[in-house]
Amino acid sequence: EVQSTLNLLENTYIKDDFTNVTDKIISHLGRNLHIKQHHPLSHVRQRIVNYFYKCFVNGRGNPVFSVYETLPPIVTTDQNFDSLLTPKEHPSRSKSDCYYLNRDYLLRAHMTAHQSELMRSGLNNFLMTGDVYRRDEIDRTHYPVFHQLDAVRLKTRDQLFPVDESLEIFEAGNNTRSTGTQQKQACHTLEAVKLMEHELKTTLGGLAKELFGEKIEYRWIDTYFPFTQPSWELEVFHENNWLELLGCGIMRQPILTNSGIQDRIGWAFGIGLERVAMCLYKIPDIRLFWSNDTGFLNQFTVDCDANVTYKPVSQFPQCINDISFWLPEGKEFSSNDFYDLARNIGGDVIEQIVLVDEFTHPKTGKASHCYRIIYRHMEKTLVQSEINVIHKKIEKNAAVMLGVKIR
Ligand code: PHE
Repeated sequence: EVQSTLNLLENTYIKDDFTNVTDKIISHLGRNLHIKQHHPLSHVRQRIVNYFYKCFVNGRGNPVFSVYETLPPIVTTDQNFDSLLTPKEHPSRSKSDCYYLNRDYLLRAHMTAHQSELMRSGLNNFLMTGDVYRRDEIDRTHYPVFHQLDAVRLKTRDQLFPVDESLEIFEAGNNTRSTGTQQKQACHTLEAVKLMEHELKTTLGGLAKELFGEKIEYRWIDTYFPFTQPSWELEVFHENNWLELLGCGIMRQPILTNSGIQDRIGWAFGIGLERVAMCLYKIPDIRLFWSNDTGFLNQFTVDCDANVTYKPVSQFPQCINDISFWLPEGKEFSSNDFYDLARNIGGDVIEQIVLVDEFTHPKTGKASHCYRIIYRHMEKTLVQSEINVIHKKIEKNAAVMLGVKIR
């Protein structure tokens, strides 16, 4: 029987044509790994929070950043997108990228969703951390639920230029394009932006060193976010690769004015906790964070600053099975639909799914996809007969739910 409502976190949501959360995804709500004692993600969160407490103190020596770690993960499209100036047609809003409860509510896709409400409540320096939800491919480094820590710091003219009365934060935007340039927004003075950029980059460069050690190599890459301008990514050099660590920038001024703030300029950033923890502790698979196995968890029963290198409990063998089907005709199909369907049935024994072949029949014009599903259990050896049951069920459900035709 198909239910027409969803009951989640003591609220009722009426399903509609946008509803695409699965039971499997919903089962992650409330796990709160980022604040679970001795969990590696909690260690990373605590180290970042401690760094901010240490770097920013007031005249009495007290930390100026307040920390929010239990903001509810169900947000409105206004919180996740509109309040952050994300255009109506922006791809990040699409059903194939987000988990919607219905047209108005979704599982937050980033912690930035809470920026506006916290600014409106009067905060000028704050950190927000929690679980975020994105539809994505399936492999060792991607999981549809992960954790982020976001920060916002707002400054007044007097705080930014304490000694020079003649300097201002704002100027009448006289650029030909009122939206400004990669260098700055039209409404900001160059000196204000450069000072903010300097504080932002020193703070985050310092954070990279705090986490990965004094010798860590890092670089800044210009990028785009709807909610910051200019925007950058910080990359660190780790095990022979440049790794994207975080996104940041100068907050778009309308976000502040829409929250009732007229006299401040702000910077913001967001960092993923899983990626940091995987590097720091050499954790090879992102699914391990969800393990309840004491063989995993007990390795982190230490202080958050302790050096830990994860030792694999043991590596169980992979089991590889392919699935090929014709895509439905005259109906939309996205690979993410198939990934979610498979994950909903197979759960965490699916280590990876790769689209290995795409083919369009030259005569009929029909399109076909072949996916390789790599099964592996974290704590035991899977047997083929066990996998057959899951694999058959995925085939059957894909045919019924997605309208594909198994080949
Ligand atoms: N929300 C962005 C992300 O999830 C990160 C970000 C936060 C970028 C704040 C700029 C400012 O990737």
